Amino acid sequence: MKHVLITGANGEIGHGLIQQLAQQADVAIYALDLHPLDPALQQHCALVQQGDITDPRSLAAFQDVSIDQIFHLAAILSTSAEKQPETAHRVNIEGMLNILTFAQRNGQQFNHRVTVLFPSSIAVYGIPSLAQKHSAGPVTEDQWVTPITMYGANKVYSELLGRYYSDFYRLLDPHTTRYVDFRSVRFPGIISAFTLPTGGTSDYAPEMLHAAAQGKPYACFVREDTIIPFMVMPDAVNALLWLAQAPGEQLTRRVYNVQSFSLTAQEFADKVRQFFPNFQITFDPDPQRQRIVDSWPAAVDDSAARRDWNWHPHYDVERAFTEYLIPNIRRRYATETVASEQ
Ligand code: SER
Repeated sequence: MKHVLITGANGEIGHGLIQQLAQQADVAIYALDLHPLDPALQQHCALVQQGDITDPRSLAAFQDVSIDQIFHLAAILSTSAEKQPETAHRVNIEGMLNILTFAQRNGQQFNHRVTVLFPSSIAVYGIPSLAQKHSAGPVTEDQWVTPITMYGANKVYSELLGRYYSDFYRLLDPHTTRYVDFRSVRFPGIISAFTLPTGGTSDYAPEMLHAAAQGKPYACFVREDTIIPFMVMPDAVNALLWLAQAPGEQLTRRVYNVQSFSLTAQEFADKVRQFFPNFQITFDPDPQRQRIVDSWPAAVDDSAARRDWNWHPHYDVERAFTEYLIPNIRRRYATETVASEQ
């Protein structure tokens, strides 16, 4: 049996990950979230704890379980973090520290390495101008790591903390055993057919699609020509699971870029309109949120992930829409309409 702890389990990635892990018979899922867990997910979990990641006592419920893998998803996203930077720092950094401390202790107690999976983000990048963004080409993991947001800074430092616990923890003590095996993917904007993000800055794409599916108009908070990379949720979940399973000796880094397709907001809207021809969209850029997205790359170079652990998205833009987003989102809102009419 593999024992897997998921923090922020009630969030978007948590939903996708738990549904996927629940199909594996040999996995026991332990969930932590600030809010009550969605009842649809509860049935898949061996233990659910409601608690705050900034309080180490929230993790006490799991201390007698020999945890093999941790997916540390609890975080405050980029737009929310700019509204309350100190709170974001507490949640994103103290939460990370609590998880790494828990992993080191748990590994020590049960004498095995604990793999800690961390969703980092394109928000770690901070390209100073639009001209540089457009001439940069696909950005590698080591270029432009100069974020302009609290969230981006939190992600960079969390990556460094993970590396520290894995490779250098208590450097002065030659007898220290390091039990943490930290691995991270830098995600692009993620789009789910089933859930909506809260407080992110790439949210305009999923918001557009979910509005169209409900027959609602949408005012997009970025310019038409805004471009960043995206992927759909099943690919994001695969990226985490594949990296978790990759043999350690194949990995040449602890942090990997991944992406599927890059689209401008206008191209995304056109794609949405292909399936929902009556969709009404206006572009009403919010200068602050625009500034954040403009500092993120138009595309990332994910060749290291492709080489080291065979990363490849199942869904390019065509398949993403025709095989995943549109059928699922149509079903989702059709069911809701039927339910509300009853
Ligand atoms: N989607 C996230 C956000 O917009 C980026 O990691 O905050």
